[in-house]
Amino acid sequence: MLSVSLTSRSWAFVFLVISAICALFTPIAAVKHENFKTCAQSGFCKRNRAFADKASELSSTWESPYRLDPTSITFDNGKLSGTVLKKINAAGEEVKLPLTISFLESGTARVTLDEEKRQKGEIELRNESKARKERYNEAEDWAIVGGLEPSTGAAISADADEGTTKVVYGPGGKFQAVIRHSPVGIDFRRDGQTQVRLNGEGLLNMEHWRPKVDKPEGEEKPEEPPAIPFEDDTSLWEESFGGNTDSKPRGPESVGLDITFPGFEHVYGIPEHASSLSLKQTRGGEGNYDEPYRLYNADVFEYLMDSPMTLYGAVPFMQAHKKDSTVGVFWLNGAETWVDIIKSKSTANALSMGVAGHTDTKTHWFSESGLLDVFVFLGPEPKDVIKSYSELTGYTQLPQEFSVGYHQCRWNYVTDDDVIDVDRKMDKFNIPYDVIWLDIEYTHEKKYFTWDPLTFPKTEEMHKKLDEHDRKLVAIIDPHIKNVPDYPIIEEMRSKGLAAKTKDGSDYEGWCWPGSSYWVDTFNPASIEWWKSLFRYETFKGTFHNTFIWNDMNEPSVFNGPETTMPKDNLHYGNWEHRDVHNINGMTFHNATFQAMVERKKGEVRRPFILTRSFYSGSQRLGAMWTGDNQARWDHLAASIPMTLNQGISGFPFAGADVGGFFGNPEKDLLTRWYQAGIFYPFMRGHAHIDTRRREPYLAGSPYTEIITQALRIRYSLLPAWYTAFHEASVSGAPIIRPNYYVHPGDEKGFAIDDQLYIGETGLLAKPVTTEGATSTDIYIADDEPYFDYFDYTIYQGKGHHKIDVPLEKIPLLMQGGHIIPRRDRPRRSSSLMKYDPYTLVVVLGKDGKASGELYVDDGDTYDYLEGASIHRRFLFDTETNALTSIDIGTSGPKTPAYLKDQAKVRVEKVIIVGAPDEWSGKSEVFVSEEGAKESQRRRAVEMAWFAGPKGKANYAVVRDPKVSITKGWKIDFA
Ligand code: NOJ
Repeated sequence: MLSVSLTSRSWAFVFLVISAICALFTPIAAVKHENFKTCAQSGFCKRNRAFADKASELSSTWESPYRLDPTSITFDNGKLSGTVLKKINAAGEEVKLPLTISFLESGTARVTLDEEKRQKGEIELRNESKARKERYNEAEDWAIVGGLEPSTGAAISADADEGTTKVVYGPGGKFQAVIRHSPVGIDFRRDGQTQVRLNGEGLLNMEHWRPKVDKPEGEEKPEEPPAIPFEDDTSLWEESFGGNTDSKPRGPESVGLDITFPGFEHVYGIPEHASSLSLKQTRGGEGNYDEPYRLYNADVFEYLMDSPMTLYGAVPFMQAHKKDSTVGVFWLNGAETWVDIIKSKSTANALSMGVAGHTDTKTHWFSESGLLDVFVFLGPEPKDVIKSYSELTGYTQLPQEFSVGYHQCRWNYVTDDDVIDVDRKMDKFNIPYDVIWLDIEYTHEKKYFTWDPLTFPKTEEMHKKLDEHDRKLVAIIDPHIKNVPDYPIIEEMRSKGLAAKTKDGSDYEGWCWPGSSYWVDTFNPASIEWWKSLFRYETFKGTFHNTFIWNDMNEPSVFNGPETTMPKDNLHYGNWEHRDVHNINGMTFHNATFQAMVERKKGEVRRPFILTRSFYSGSQRLGAMWTGDNQARWDHLAASIPMTLNQGISGFPFAGADVGGFFGNPEKDLLTRWYQAGIFYPFMRGHAHIDTRRREPYLAGSPYTEIITQALRIRYSLLPAWYTAFHEASVSGAPIIRPNYYVHPGDEKGFAIDDQLYIGETGLLAKPVTTEGATSTDIYIADDEPYFDYFDYTIYQGKGHHKIDVPLEKIPLLMQGGHIIPRRDRPRRSSSLMKYDPYTLVVVLGKDGKASGELYVDDGDTYDYLEGASIHRRFLFDTETNALTSIDIGTSGPKTPAYLKDQAKVRVEKVIIVGAPDEWSGKSEVFVSEEGAKESQRRRAVEMAWFAGPKGKANYAVVRDPKVSITKGWKIDFA
């Protein structure tokens, strides 16, 4: 029953919502294209594309109407400033656009372009709008957390060509920015070669402010002929879509720029799209898209495969890659953004004098509003580009260790008894898992921070039961707050003025799961403070130390809003229009929850775990993401691999897809294959729509349940390797799962490969099976190291594709020679119960007989690691000494001794050497020496067994229980 009185307009909304909800229950339907704009329906996209078309049509006679006034250039403290002049009409009138080019100590360069008139607030707003007059300049406050120190070495060089200014910068002065004055453009060079070119195609476009001149009736001609004759007048002042009219109080204000990567054939990044890792061309042609990649965070119902259509999150960071060179750009803008990609090939001809043909990738970026703000990274390796980007936007937070385990979710576990029952059954079937999740139905009538009194009366008992095996509960909290009387949360939020506003400043009301709702405006610092107060154990009753949070619908999803979100002329804190900040919105909500979880109890300092659906550059600092509402179909399973790989190389690697597929009921073999693939997602959660049949792994029946359990056990036994990879991500930005080009940047054949992955630095190479009925698969090997099957040590060696038979129980997983993989092989119910378990080290010898690997360990829960409470070891197997050693590479601090004491008894219980040399065949013992051992124990003999590999399989040796501590330096002598 709705307790609010409904106007006829509201009834229309109810109808809309009901239809939307009904649509949700239709088993298989396609995305509702008509709900989302195409480029032609988005005014600024259409205008910028038309601009590009005109430039290409006029080709050699086209000249960009932007020039840098050379007399305006100044250079100070690593920053070049100047004024770009835009010619706006045939009479030669110009507007001023302040330019800065900042050269940063990290070697990154940043280019910003603003508009003087808007900067000074000298514009008129239409429609009595209360919006800010400037271009949005606070994206950096949300996205950037470091790396902005100006370069001390950058300097203007004297040897610039006529009409250009040259700045030398970067490590060892190897980078140059060559700034052309007219038309303005910048070539970024490394070692003298242009890697990134701005405005080379002349598509720079900053829609300057102009008054709307209403033409007297009957008058056909515009008063002033526009400088750019193809500026389409119809979408400049107002835009309607899906029954909503955007009042556009500041008129047209888009920013656009072409960014060319000369000689680069592959570009990656700009998630989130259900597309290939190597991005496709977008201007039509066979195998290409017709639409640009769109970044406009949206709740896209039943999204399409292989499409540049926008999804829930946006990271406007792109990398370009060619043999042995990787560069990148980060387009810092929170507004709706589109990116066109064209690859232009030049073929070698008789006159090319031995110079081979090459491909340039030309990209064209445009956003609806805001500053032009671009960061340029010159690599040269993939890891350098990601590191520079992560220095700016922050590293992945080191997660709660449990969150690297398996998560069991569905919409919904319907009662507390249901939760307890699932927990019990997982134990009964010996299926490891760490977290059970509650979707929206746990709340009392969709009022967040409440529990349904009928279905969840025993929250404490439920949490306690989970805690018996150190398991956690994740509860959903969304940003829409139900509009009903007697709900203190809505009363407080509105009375404190913390809701997002309409264009005229009143609280914005829309529809979501609870029906009529208001949205907390988490751009507002006061909202964050208020939000913090809601998560305290004493306020959010029924939550405990093992409750964590899921943030969904934070694009924000508004069922009756344009494109299922808020109107663009809505207002946020500081009177910024929603238009300016849309893509950042989800991150601000995630951030508010993060702040709240950090502070939920005085004196309790623990790492939050919060899953988000919507994200932006910087969200990696706050938790994990998942790829939203996929479907129980093979093509969705396949798409999840490039999508999670793309997250990894885009600085937000804690990512995964709903295992099993959200919509629909997976056949058992699909479900099984999905679990086998899911163990390779950094974030692994099974989830299902409310309308699907139950599918907890124990329900699948034999042999599926056993096969799924086996897959989960592999995930759990490799948790030390996963957590070590997370640690690396948290200090270097490196992806947790890695595509071929990242691991083998010189291997051209592998640049487009996106259906297999490496886990961190472990050398583990997985090729998930994602096709129905597959009996074999091809795995691509990029180098001449031996690779060994993870399970039976079959040897695969030689660059190229190798066939692996894949009966349903088989997971194609290889170990690249040269690595040492830490594992914990004792089966447990949850990850926390493994805390003091001994380790197994798998030493996989490379072709040179050597191997190395790392292990990072900490308490997996608090921030004590920042004060040295951690263990970080490097293991080395060296052919010269024929010994395996453990070396300390950790950072110590005041909390190191106590932590080492806590872990002192944790030992290595087994060492497996894969590819053990024939010479060891007669060996039955090795000698162990450990730091600090008693005299009598200085050189202990320990049993070793050597096994000859049958044909095609590697020999291996097993050292049984060397009893060496994980906290100490030691050596195992095989000589
Ligand atoms: C949409 C989310 O994508 C989905 O995972 C969730 O189950 C529903 N919202 C209900 O909360």
